[in-house]
Amino acid sequence: MCGIVGYIGRRDAVGIALKGLKRLEYRGYDSAGIASCDAKGVVFLEKSPGKIASLERKLKHIPPSILAIGHTRWATHGEPNFENAHPHADCKNEIFIAHNGIIENHETIRAALTQEGHSFRSRTDSEVVAHLVERERASASTLEEAVTRALSYVEGTFGLAVISAREPKKLIGARRGSPLLVGLGKKEYLLASDAAAIIGRTRRVIYLDDNEMAVFTPSSKKIFTLAHSPSGAHKEIEKDVRTIDWTVEDSQKEGFGSFMEKEIFEAPLVIENALRGHVLAKAGEVKFGGLDMMRDRLSQTNRVIFVGCGTSHYASLVGKYFFETFARLPAEAVLASEFRYQPPVMDGKTAVFAISQSGETADTLEAVREAKRKGALTLGIVNVVGSSIAREVQAGVYNHAGPEIAVASTKAFISQLCVLALSAIYFGRLRKTLAALEASAVLSELLSYPARARRLLTDARSDVDRAAEAYHKVDHFFFLGRRYNWPVALEGALKLKEISYIHAEGYAAGEMKHGPLALVNAGFPAFMVIPRDSVYEKTVSNIQELKARGAKIIALATEGDDAIAKLADHVIRIPKLREELSPILSVIPLQLFAHRAAVLRGCDVDRPRNLAKSVTVE
Ligand code: F6R
Repeated sequence: MCGIVGYIGRRDAVGIALKGLKRLEYRGYDSAGIASCDAKGVVFLEKSPGKIASLERKLKHIPPSILAIGHTRWATHGEPNFENAHPHADCKNEIFIAHNGIIENHETIRAALTQEGHSFRSRTDSEVVAHLVERERASASTLEEAVTRALSYVEGTFGLAVISAREPKKLIGARRGSPLLVGLGKKEYLLASDAAAIIGRTRRVIYLDDNEMAVFTPSSKKIFTLAHSPSGAHKEIEKDVRTIDWTVEDSQKEGFGSFMEKEIFEAPLVIENALRGHVLAKAGEVKFGGLDMMRDRLSQTNRVIFVGCGTSHYASLVGKYFFETFARLPAEAVLASEFRYQPPVMDGKTAVFAISQSGETADTLEAVREAKRKGALTLGIVNVVGSSIAREVQAGVYNHAGPEIAVASTKAFISQLCVLALSAIYFGRLRKTLAALEASAVLSELLSYPARARRLLTDARSDVDRAAEAYHKVDHFFFLGRRYNWPVALEGALKLKEISYIHAEGYAAGEMKHGPLALVNAGFPAFMVIPRDSVYEKTVSNIQELKARGAKIIALATEGDDAIAKLADHVIRIPKLREELSPILSVIPLQLFAHRAAVLRGCDVDRPRNLAKSVTVE
């Protein structure tokens, strides 16, 4: 999704903004731009559709400056072209803004400002903000006053960076519903929509909350709340400074061909990190500092609703099974984008668990807000520390999977499953629905998963590669599984379609004969997730149905299951696992398969077309 970087200080502002934008490339974008201002108030603007490299070429002639804002855009209103790229300027080319989010009432504002004589250059919703600030600046005594007044007219969401030629030593940032943080460097300040953009310069940050504004000069920073109305005042506030505990090196590929591949191979580490400090295996207990503080409220919970999108939703489908199995708590997994519109029925005894890697997914954040309005307890399983969802839920757990750079989520899914399993055991012990002995057995098995993941990554690789080699040219794929491995099949299909562009459908294997089987003809490939578990025989019958119609079968099966080799065209092995926990490892070969197929098809696996890492619009 769109990215923002801003800089004010003593160094090369344009170079620093450009570097920041490059670090945000992984989020997906279709155009980029930078506006800068020198000490005399002379402004420069360069924008370019396409890759940042083409913007970089245009920046060569820009003289050194100490103030700049930059933006990577992912089109929502208006096609990706020069005019629609940010930063946007006012009529006099004096005020420049970079905006993330959506201005919902932009048409009304545009019409009013056009009547007042403003002329617009782009089709974007964002440009109205530059003109609103211009109008308000005429009567305001400072740029920040103009910004706060302008934003009081705006409905919708914004993460915003503003500079002006009239105040060439000032950088302003504001937030409502779209992430923005402040970086505190040595005699310099930065603004960014994502910490990845600035960690090369500083690790000390302030996360802006909704309706807050940051105002910097080269030697000062002030944070204010935004005014509620054009005549209202902005009030100065104090905010905590946090330290980012990951480094730029964490974000690099470490010798792998892509971030996605590196992240798949981080599975053992990710499982270790998710379990670290939480598991008392012998006692059969789980410790969660983030949840312990509300044990009383948690013990009254009589229902759990998971909300999430995409891969995180599939993790919650497994989470539902975990909670029903280990905690005997009724659980549902609802797509966050549907949750608000259902309309959801809940009360103070309902716990709504938001599952999100980025912690910024707009639909999931809105689901949390809806749950709060309805009086439910809101909990989160989030990877990005300090993200919006992490801050808005009442309690929660971080996955600690480290930054996930590839657009396609892999390691985050695995760590989400681990934390979900631990949470279900935690609730089971709290509610006394899970015996300590049973919990102890499950936890001991979980502790063996890092080593097993390590072995699986080595052992499965050649079989996965052979299968990908055989099928990477096909147009369609089925991924089928049952029970705990049905969500894994859904996730396998999502991975393949998003990075290889092969049309892939995930189904519960039992659903095939209710429609999808009609698509199967000679050579149609089906990836069957069929470990030796309680639904094994049923899934074997599904394989028979497919084979009778000429389908090609890739089976993900348990080591030692020799019978499957007679049915399948390709077999990939996973170790013998507890049925409930098996998704944590069974998904790994599917991730590897999607990755390999995409590489063989020549796709940009880290940055699939049309997709963004963090989806901050609904
Ligand atoms: C797929 C993928 C997406 C995300 C979804 C939710 O590989 O990455 O489906 O899972 O956009 O994102 P988060 O987890 O950040 O809320």
